Amino acid sequence: MNPRAPLARAVCATLCLALASLGAGCPADDDAPLTDAGADAGRSDAFLELTDPLSMPAVPTVSVGSFSSATTCAECHPRYVEQWAVSNHAYAMLDPLFRALTKVRQTAYAGAQDRFCQQCHSAIGTRGGEIRPGFSYADLSPVVLEGVTCEACHKVSGMEREFDSGHVLDESGPMRGTHPEPAPSSAHESVVSPLHATSEFCGGCHDVTEASGLELERPYAEWTQSPAAASGRQCQDCHMPESVGEIASGGPRTDTVHDHTFIGVDRALTADFILDPLAATEHDRRVEALLASAATVRLATAPSAPAGSLLDVVVTVRNEVEGHNLPTGSTFLRQVWLELIATDADGTVLYETGTLDADGDLRNYWSALDPYGDEDLVSLSSSFVDSRGQPTLFPWLASEHYSSSIPPLQERSFTYFVPTAAAAAGPIHLAVRLRFRTVAPFLLRALGLDASVDRVLTHDLATAATDVALP
Ligand code: HEC
Ligand code: HEC
Ligand code: HEC
Ligand code: HEC
Ligand code: HEC
Repeated sequence: MNPRAPLARAVCATLCLALASLGAGCPADDDAPLTDAGADAGRSDAFLELTDPLSMPAVPTVSVGSFSSATTCAECHPRYVEQWAVSNHAYAMLDPLFRALTKVRQTAYAGAQDRFCQQCHSAIGTRGGEIRPGFSYADLSPVVLEGVTCEACHKVSGMEREFDSGHVLDESGPMRGTHPEPAPSSAHESVVSPLHATSEFCGGCHDVTEASGLELERPYAEWTQSPAAASGRQCQDCHMPESVGEIASGGPRTDTVHDHTFIGVDRALTADFILDPLAATEHDRRVEALLASAATVRLATAPSAPAGSLLDVVVTVRNEVEGHNLPTGSTFLRQVWLELIATDADGTVLYETGTLDADGDLRNYWSALDPYGDEDLVSLSSSFVDSRGQPTLFPWLASEHYSSSIPPLQERSFTYFVPTAAAAAGPIHLAVRLRFRTVAPFLLRALGLDASVDRVLTHDLATAATDVALP
C-alpha cells in the first residue's frame, strides 16, 4: 500500500462532505482503481504518479526557459498577439473553473495525477517539469501561465497521436506555420509545416481521453466522420478565418492572415481577462454569431387542440454545423436544452419544460430546489456515471460517459404531450427555444465560484413558435 493513501483519503473524505450535495463521490476503497493509462493493477495505484513519456514525463523533456513568451512576438506580429491574448488559448491556465477542478483532483489523489489536466492546458509546463505532483499555480513561470501560448503551437514538429497532447515539441527548432516562402527574420528561422493547416493538428489537444481510457472530448474524431472532412474543410477554415494584412510588421500584405482569437463558445469567468470593453463586447458578439449559425428548430403540431385531451407537439432540432456534433468539446460542462412553454390566451401557463428553478438551475438531478422536477427535460449535453451507477461531475470518477449530442447536419425529434384542458381561452401559444450556456450555476457555486455565476450568458441558438386553436 502507498503510505500516503490513508492521509489522502482523509482529505478526500473532508472534500466529499463539501461536495456531497453534488453526488461527487470519492475514490473509495471499493471503487474500480483509477490506474496509470490502461494498466491493470491494484487499488493503491490511485496514488501512483500518473505519467506518459510524451505528454506527462516524470523527468523533463524540454526546458521551460527555452520557450519565448508571447510578448516577445509583439514587436513584429502585434495583431497576432492582440488576438491571441483575448482567446481561450491564453486563458487556459488562468481559468478559475479549470483551477478549481484541478484542485479537487489534486486533493483527491494527493497530487499523483497532477500532470493529467495540465498536459494540453500547458504542454510547456508539463513537459518542462514545472507541473509535477503537488505543484502550486503561484510558483509557475510566466510562459507556463500563458497556457496554449504561441510556441506551444508553432514549435510543434509532428504528432504521435491525435488526442491527449499528442504533439512533438521541438524546443530548439524553427518557427513552423503554413505561410509559403516566409521572409527571413533576425528573430527566428521559419519552416513551412503542412501539419498546421490540418484538423489533426487541433485534434492533438481537442480530443481528450481520461486516464481510465474513457473518452471525454472528441471534436476531431467527430470531424473525421463529418461532411466537412469529406469536402476537405478543416477546423481552421471555421475557427481561424482568413483576412488581408501583413504577417510581420512592414512585410508584404497577403490575404492569408489567420485569425487567432479562436472564437468558440466560452466567455471568461473573470471580467478582468479581457480588459478593453470594446474587445469584450466584440468577443461576446462573435460568440453569439457563431452560435446563431449552429442549429435550427422546427415545431409541428395539429392546427387545433383535441378537446380535453393531450396535444402532441413534435420539436425537431437540426445541427447545422458541418464540422462536428452539437454540442462538442466539453459537453459535460455545457448545458444545451429545449425549453417549451404553452400558454393560453390569458397568459396562463399550461405546460413548461426546460425552465429554471429559483437558483437559475435546470430542474434535473442536480437541482437543489426541485430535483427531477422536470420529467420531460430534453438535454443535448453529456453526463457521467461512476462505478456505483451514481451521477458524477468529475471525469476521473466516471466509468460511463453518456452523450446526447447530434452529429453534423443531422436532426433529432422529440415529442411532448401538452395538457390543454385547463385552457380558458384560445388560441394556445407554443414557444420553443434551444438554449445554451457554458456552465451550470450549481457547479460554479459548489466549487466556490459564486461570483462568476453572473458572467455566464445564456444564448438562444434557435426558436420557433405557433398558435393552436381551441375546439
Ligand atoms: C487532451 C487535452 C486536454 C486535457 C488532458 C484536459 N483538457 Fe481541459 N480543455 C481542453 C480543450 C481543447 C478545451 C476546450 C474545449 C471546449 O471549449 O469545448 C478544454 C476546456 C476546458 C475547460 C472549459 C473552460 C471553460 O471555462 O468553460 C475546463 C474547465 C477544463 N478544460 C478543465 C479540464 C480539467 C479539469 C482537466 C482534467 C480532468 C482537463 N481540462 C484536461 C483540453 C484538455
Ligand atoms: C524581429 C521580428 C520578429 C519577431 C520578434 C518574431 N517574428 Fe515571426 N516572423 C517574422 C518575419 C519577418 C516572418 C516572415 C513574414 C513574411 O514572410 O511575410 C515571420 C514569420 C513567422 C511565422 C510564419 C512561419 C511560416 O512558415 O508560416 C510564424 C509562425 C511566426 N513568425 C511566429 C513567431 C512567434 C511565435 C514569435 C514570438 C515567439 C515571433 N514569430 C517573433 C519576424 C519576427
Ligand atoms: C463548418 C465549420 C466548423 C468546423 C469545420 C469546425 N467547427 Fe468547431 N464550431 C463551429 C461552430 C458553428 C461552433 C458553435 C456551435 C457548437 O458549439 O457546436 C463550434 C464550436 C466549437 C467548440 C466549442 C464547443 C463547446 O461547446 O465547448 C470547439 C472546442 C470547437 N468547435 C473545436 C473544433 C475543432 C477542434 C474542429 C476540427 C476538428 C472544429 N471545431 C471544426 C464550427 C466549426
Ligand atoms: C492553438 C495553436 C496556435 C497558437 C496558440 C498560435 N498560433 Fe499562430 N497559427 C496557428 C495555425 C494552425 C496557423 C496556420 C493556420 C492555417 O494555415 O490554416 C498559424 C499561423 C500563424 C502565422 C503565419 C501567418 C498566418 O496567418 O497564417 C503567424 C505569423 C502566427 N501564427 C503567429 C502566432 C503568434 C505570434 C502567436 C502568439 C501570439 C500564435 N501564432 C499563436 C496556430 C496557433
Ligand atoms: C496545445 C494544445 C492545443 C492546441 C494545439 C489547440 N488547442 Fe484549442 N484549446 C486548447 C485548450 C486547453 C482550450 C481551452 C482553454 C480554456 O478555456 O480553459 C482551447 C480552446 C479552444 C477554442 C475555444 C473553445 C470555447 O469553448 O470557446 C477554440 C475555438 C479552439 N481551441 C480551436 C482550436 C483550433 C481550431 C486548433 C487547431 C488550429 C486548436 N484549438 C489547437 C488547447 C489547444
